[in-house]
Amino acid sequence: MRIYLSRPDITEKEIEAVCAVLRSPNLSLGPKLEEFENAFAEYIGRKRAVAVNSGTSGLFLCLLSLGIGPGDEVITTPFTFIASATTIMMAGAKPVFIDIDPATLNIDPAKIESKITDKTKAIMPVEAFGSPAGFDKISSIAQKHNLTLLEDSCEALGSELNGRKAGTFGKMSVFAFYPNKQITTGEGGMISTDDDDLADMCVSLRNQGRGKGSGWLSHERLGYNYRLSDINCALGIVQLSRIDEIKAKRKQVAKWYQQMLSDDDRLIVPTEPPGCDISWFVFVVRLADSFSLKQRNGILEAMNAKGIQVGNYFSPVHLQPFMAEQFGYKEGDFPVTESTAERTIALPFYNNLAKDEVTTVCKTLKEILDKNLPAG
Ligand SMILES: Cc1ncc(COP(=O)(O)O)c(C=O)c1O
Repeated sequence: MRIYLSRPDITEKEIEAVCAVLRSPNLSLGPKLEEFENAFAEYIGRKRAVAVNSGTSGLFLCLLSLGIGPGDEVITTPFTFIASATTIMMAGAKPVFIDIDPATLNIDPAKIESKITDKTKAIMPVEAFGSPAGFDKISSIAQKHNLTLLEDSCEALGSELNGRKAGTFGKMSVFAFYPNKQITTGEGGMISTDDDDLADMCVSLRNQGRGKGSGWLSHERLGYNYRLSDINCALGIVQLSRIDEIKAKRKQVAKWYQQMLSDDDRLIVPTEPPGCDISWFVFVVRLADSFSLKQRNGILEAMNAKGIQVGNYFSPVHLQPFMAEQFGYKEGDFPVTESTAERTIALPFYNNLAKDEVTTVCKTLKEILDKNLPAG
């Protein structure tokens, strides 16, 4: 592979920080955990941050701490990574999907109210690809109906809408640190909230249900081991300290793609929606409506064959076979999500992608498009 879809950006500083933990006696539940959580809470501007071992476990613990379980419904988007929906199912509740707004790729605020029932307990919107567009409207709807807003901000660390950070719209929010994210801890996630009781509950749930100050073999509730080790936290602390630099580098890569591709009317190239300052997670272009799914897949294959790794973010969640079977979803249920998903091409995107590599990606994509013109 010549140009990868994503690459982490690890400097000597991160390596030194991880090595320092390895030389210390505290590999887990040590000082780096608290340091990472405090730095994160300060960056986001919330009272509490609770580190966990993945975004998935973070979302699951938020749902549990909010008391969401069997018989409850949680509204979310079908245009997301699977974990947004499966964590709702893990908690025993039902994911209720709302189609996306084609302009923002986030839940369409205009479609939420018709899906609210007396079983609806929460709305879990996702900042798709890092964009918080529409989150002010979604948040007002949640307030109006007295529903909890749980933000799946796994893709949006550093993004802002009208000066407000992604992850501060909801009562709780969750970020993820897999290596393709803005910052990485290898694997990891972070819950953030202003509510001490909810944060304390997540602290207990991530650590085998232990209580505050209780002994190692003393358990107050059913809990899990979703702890994030000090090795991961040390990596996270340095990565977080670089977030402004990381955001700027990613903005530059996004700008190169915009400059090189936006004159091509076969493509819809993402831009920052009004009021949004995006911390780009991935850079996903869409083919014009005249392209078919088969043509898109052919383009993905051709790009990969040329050594340029591309992806099809996202495949609609409601059409994953086990979801469709369990809830009876079928093709046509969420037409905007489906038609968007059929035409996406996630291009190589990471901090240190060089301008000449972006040029190669764009040139190759245009050459392939020339050979794959829509029939008719
Ligand atoms: C929107 C969204 N939700 C949840 C997750 C889950 O995070 P993790 O892979 O850390 O469990 C991801 C990560 O890819 C994501 O993009």
